[in-house]
Formats: sequence, C-alpha cells, structure tokens
Amino acid sequence: MTKEEYKNSVELLNKYAHYYYVLDDPLTTDEVYDKLYHEVLAFEEEDPSSVLAMSPTQRVGGTPLDKFVKAEHPSRMWSLEDIFNAEELKKWLEKTGKLVENISFYCEPKFDGASLNLIYEDGQLSQAITRGDGVVGEDVTQNAKTIQSVPLRIDHLGKIEIRGEVVIFKDDFEKINIERAKEGEAIFANPRNAAAGSLRQLDSKITAKRNLVFLPYGIGENSLDEHLLHKRMALVYSWGFREPPRRKTTAGFDAIEAVYEQMKVERDSYAMMLDGMVIKVDQIEAQQEMGYTVKVPRWAVAYKFPAVEKITTIKEIILQVGRSGAVTPVAVVEPTPIEGVVVERASLHNFDEINRKDIRIGDKVIILRSGDVIPKIIKVLTHERDGSQHVYVRPTECPVCASELLDEGALTKCQNLTCSARVVNAMIYFASKPCLNIDGLGDKIVKTLYTEGLIENVIDLFSLELDRLLELEGFKEKKSQKLLDSIAGAKGCDCWRFINSLGIEHIGEVGSKSLCEHFGMRFSAATKEELLAIDGFGEEMANSLLEFVRVNSENIQTLNAILQPVEPALKEEAAQNPFKAKVVVLTGSMSESRGNIKTMLEALGAKVSGSVSKKTDYVIYGEDAGSKYDKAVALSVETITEEQMREMLL
Ligand code: IVH
Repeated sequence: MTKEEYKNSVELLNKYAHYYYVLDDPLTTDEVYDKLYHEVLAFEEEDPSSVLAMSPTQRVGGTPLDKFVKAEHPSRMWSLEDIFNAEELKKWLEKTGKLVENISFYCEPKFDGASLNLIYEDGQLSQAITRGDGVVGEDVTQNAKTIQSVPLRIDHLGKIEIRGEVVIFKDDFEKINIERAKEGEAIFANPRNAAAGSLRQLDSKITAKRNLVFLPYGIGENSLDEHLLHKRMALVYSWGFREPPRRKTTAGFDAIEAVYEQMKVERDSYAMMLDGMVIKVDQIEAQQEMGYTVKVPRWAVAYKFPAVEKITTIKEIILQVGRSGAVTPVAVVEPTPIEGVVVERASLHNFDEINRKDIRIGDKVIILRSGDVIPKIIKVLTHERDGSQHVYVRPTECPVCASELLDEGALTKCQNLTCSARVVNAMIYFASKPCLNIDGLGDKIVKTLYTEGLIENVIDLFSLELDRLLELEGFKEKKSQKLLDSIAGAKGCDCWRFINSLGIEHIGEVGSKSLCEHFGMRFSAATKEELLAIDGFGEEMANSLLEFVRVNSENIQTLNAILQPVEPALKEEAAQNPFKAKVVVLTGSMSESRGNIKTMLEALGAKVSGSVSKKTDYVIYGEDAGSKYDKAVALSVETITEEQMREMLL
C-alpha cells in the first residue's frame, strides 16, 4: 500500500462508518470493512509516523487512565429552564415575544443522556469535555473517540465547539442490564445513568463496548456566518453528525404545541430516551439580544414530558407464583398516577434485589414507569426513614400451597407441581396468544373455571359441558357456547403451538418452532444428540425438554390425541431459494408489517429469529434500524435491505 492508497483507504473506511453509524444506511458488508481496516492497520504498523489522526484505528486504544483531568470549556455550557404544561408554554412565548419581535422557534427532542462538548480545531477533534459544572468538566477525549457517531474530522476550519448529548439506545440499555444482572453487578437505573457511567470509564475499551451515540444539539464558540440556528444545525449534520428523529422550525403557540404533542406520541418508537422537547429561538441575533440569566438562556426552554418518575410508599410486598413455580416478589405501593395510569405495583425482580437495594416495607421510593412495562423501583429514599419501616423477611414457604420453597440462587421456586397457582398460570399460558390462542379464555375465566371445580388441568378444558358452564355466575348461553367453540377450534392447531403451549421451561416460541420444523410431532422422541444438533439448542433446553417428556409423556399423548396438531410442510419441501434454511433477523420499519414479512420468509424455509447472534445469516433491515443492525455489523453478519431481499427472490 502506498501512502496515497493508505489515505484513500482511511477516507473510504470513514465513509463506510458514516453511512453505517450516522445515516443508518450501510454501503457495504462487514467483511469488506474489516478487510480494509486490517490493511490500514498493517500499513500503520509498518509506518507509524504516517498514521492519520482521522484513521478509524485511532478510535480505540490508549492505556487506561488513573483519573480524569479537569478541563475548562472554551465557552460556558448552559442549562435549561423547564416548563411542564401548555399554560407555561404560553407564558414563556409571551415573555420571549416581548423581548424580541418576529421570531421563530427551532424545536427538537430533549435527549436524556449525558452532555458532552466536542472541540474541533481546523477540522480535527482536539478535545472532548463532560459538562461538569458548565465551566469546568472532565477531559474524556479518549472515550469520546470510541463513539462512532463522533466524527474525528469535520470539514470546517478554525475552532468550533459542538455540544450534544451522549445516549444509549433503549434496547442496548436493556441488554447491558441483563448482562450486568447475570454478572451480579448493580444494574443501571436508567439509560441516562448508563450513558454517563459509560462516558466516565477510565478504560476507554469499556466505553467502546457500550454502543454510545452522540446527538448534537448546539454550538458553542464558533466563527460561523449563518444567522439561523436551524441552518447552523443543518451544517453540523452535514459534517457527519447524527440527526435527531424529528426537528421543526415554526412559530406560534398552536404550531409549537402540535410539534410537542407529536413528539410525545412518537417518543416510545424512538431508539433513544427523550424527556421533553427543547424550544429555541431560531434567530442567532435575537438570542444574543435576549442573553442569559445566571443559569439559563432566555432564548430557550425545555418543555418536559409528563414525569415518569414519582415518589411513592411501599405498603407491602406480595408474592406471585408463576407457571414454572418461580416465586417473585412484587411491591404494592401507595396508588400513584403516572402518565394517566394509576400505578399500584412495582416489580422487584427477585429477592436479592430487595436486599441489594435495601428495600423495606414502609419505605419512600422513586418509581419509574417507561412504556407500558410494570414500573420499577429505582431508588429508596433512605433519608426519609422514620423508624416505622421494617425489613422484609424472605419466605420459606409457597404463599399459595405452603410447600417448602427451593432457593435456586436468582430464582426461588415452589416445587409442588400441583400448586394451584402453578396449575392456573400454566392453563392461562396454554390458552394465550403465542400458544393455542383460544379466544375468550383469559385469566379471569380460567381462574373461575378452576375455583368452581370445572377444570383441574388443561385436558379438562376439552370435556367442558354447556350445562355446567351455564350454572356459573355471568355465563350466559351465548358467551358459554362461544367459549366452547373456541376451545374446540384449537383442534388441528399448528404443531409448534402445541409444543409451546406445554410450557416447557427454556423452550419458547422460537424453540417450539425449531422442534416442530425438525421433528414434527416426533419431538417427544428426539434424543439428546438430535436436539443438540439443532441450531440454537443448548444443553439447558435439551435437558429441560427430555425431563419434561419423561414426567409428562402420558399427558402429551392425551393432548395429542385431542388436539391432533398439524405438522408443517417439512423444510425440504420449500423450493430452493436464497433464504431457505437461513437464520434471519428483521429490524427497522418495512414496506409492510414485519409479521407479514416473517410469515413470507418462514414459508420460504427461513428461520426468523428475534435476536442477532453469530449464527444469524442475514439481518434484513428497514428504516430506523437500531441496535440489531449495529450488532450484526459488530458480529460480521451480512446485512441487506428489504429491497435487496426482494431482489434476491426475483
Ligand atoms: S440546549 C444553551 N438542547 O439538557 C442551551 N440541551 O437541561 C443549553 N439536553 O445540559 C442546552 N437535549 O445536556 C439543549 N436538544 C437539546 C438537549 C439538551 C438534551 C440536555 C443538555 C443540557 C440539559 C439542560
């Protein structure tokens, strides 16, 4: 490689990375990227004096630091005033309009992460400083360089500060916590803490693994000619920074309120966490005229989304027994409205979590509700304790059947197979959507049928009689007949639904589908060797199935005779095509629902999986593809667009 070729290769690698990390629109495969990266690395090792600062190899490396060095921001990093409702917005707009007339406003998300100041000198990233107190922060340059959406070089002469928020995408956050829980490390309370913690790692190799994303929101010291903020930001994006999922320059209360409402609705579908919308005066001169209070600019405001964190009190801790016998503690809290829902319970995960967080009955706690998941306790307000709180005593007996509980580390289990909670939950699962999908047979009805003595197990469902149902309160003829019809309708179900409905530990929808594909209804006779030969089947799954079959073979036979499941057309029967027998993952939004595309691919003999691993053959991506795409690239899994997929099938 000549020096010239080296320079071109570095530029090409940067272009690939930009399309991948910033535009979410990859130009090539991982294989091509990796090959070129290694060629560049080899050249640099031969000739260290020629290494270009913008080379992607310069992102990683560097020895871990002992501590961070303090650094002063060239110009101050401000904070924002918060407003919480339409009335406050109206007041703020009136106040602002009085200061300067005829202004418009630039609206963009308020990202929930850690703020970072990037300093570029003559195009080179020279320093990255955390916000700190706004005047002095910490130098985290080495860590910032590992963030792929931070350009090492920009097309701009002179000195400029680019300010933005470092975030972790929501699904990466979940993954980090799962990983940390497995390793026995404390889990991060929210993506903001995870982002801040990752940015402040002394070892930049750890930062590099966290998939941090930099989202620019402003400019500090600069020598730009542009007089409008939205044009300045467009310039920033053109230098290779990532754009926000939505931004709008507009004027007037109604228009701004409309953008806010839209963002509030859309935010669950964004990859990153938002905690509001920031409204900024678009005209830079007007901004300068308005100036700052001691703390915040007068020309900008953060219009917060309704709080998802609230303080409440733990009234008691109750126990739930799942279908596998796992006993999980749940906190019953003082009813608290959050985002239009009255929260009465918060999940506690497991008993170790209660100890680790030192959660006591009577404690004041901060609960967090995000999306529609059950809220979790993120902090115990220990300083609010007044002596009336008491420590929760871990149970030794099943709260439902009083059998002795078995402590399996992270899990505590009721061993009694006939424990009514286990039996009822297993039946609820049997009828649920990913299993036999029996319409009208939900939690409540299953419980009633069980407590009234009509059913003891799932087999009894198929001999229910209309007369007996009609004796129950609230069971009218029409409803009862409908229920019997939908139970009867489960006959002839897909083989995989049959397997899934058995509720075998460690074997979910994907596992059931593989079993069905490989063995059909012969799955219960499969040997351990045969099971382990299936892609994605590990020791745990194989043992669990074998043990289940050993204990339940009679029930499986009876259910089989009743349901007469339909075996799939075996894989071999799909005509030859590029996706046959391939493991594919779908991500991002596509031209039709992913469910439809999944069905189509399955019909072609592909296995559609929910997560990316080394065994994945293709990741097919649509718009706004997120971390699954990133993971594919990291694992060198081939990525193709929906369009390419369709072309391959022509
Ligand atoms: S502008 C002079 N814009 O929120 C204006 N800040 O509460 C200063 N933040 O420290 C900030 N998204 O870390 C601005 N679109 C956005 C933002 C944003 C997130 C953070 C930032 C700032 C804090 C202020």
